Amino acid sequence: MKVLLPVASRHGATQEIGDAIAEVLRASGFEVDVVDPDEVEDIEDYESVILGSSVYVGRWAASARAFVDRFAGRLAQRPVWLFSSGPVGDPPAPTGDPEEVGVLMRRMGARGHRTFGGRLDRGGLALAERAVVALLQAEPGDFRQWADVQDWASQIAEELHAWEIRRLGYVP
Ligand SMILES: Cc1cc2nc3c(=O)[nH]c(=O)nc-3n(C[C@H](O)[C@H](O)[C@H](O)COP(=O)(O)O)c2cc1C
Repeated sequence: MKVLLPVASRHGATQEIGDAIAEVLRASGFEVDVVDPDEVEDIEDYESVILGSSVYVGRWAASARAFVDRFAGRLAQRPVWLFSSGPVGDPPAPTGDPEEVGVLMRRMGARGHRTFGGRLDRGGLALAERAVVALLQAEPGDFRQWADVQDWASQIAEELHAWEIRRLGYVP
């Protein structure tokens, strides 16, 4: 089964989460393509989609939102999951999902959404980003919990295997 994994990542942290999810799925026998959402022209070849985005100032990336706009109808016909990478600090902040996630999930009938901790590396930020980080008093560091990412990916692998068995009619 082919899984499309589009990831909108500005500074690489969300990309690496996408790569970790792909690794788990590949180990479970799935074929996975991790791609930039802007580069996707068609999703017909894929049975499932896992769409990820970093969160900046409370919002998903424009490329991830545009991906949903382009393919909403076809996404609704497939098992879809979403993930976000954002909260930093200990305890992680901000809490709660980005506000548009609920709407995006309803549009696609998505099966789930998960927010993972993010990574904030001040050195790699643009000047304007540094100003926002100072304003938000966001704490630099890597707050991604790889075990959580792998557990979530394993749950998806299980659900996809079950979905595939039902779809192919192996079970009455
Ligand atoms: C300017 C700026 C604004 C941010 N705003 C948010 C936010 O509103 N909510 C959030 O959860 N994380 C926020 N973050 C943290 C990033 O989402 C987090 O570092 C993420 O892992 C970055 O992913 P990327 O490297 O894939 O771009 C912000 C980071 C920066 C630099």
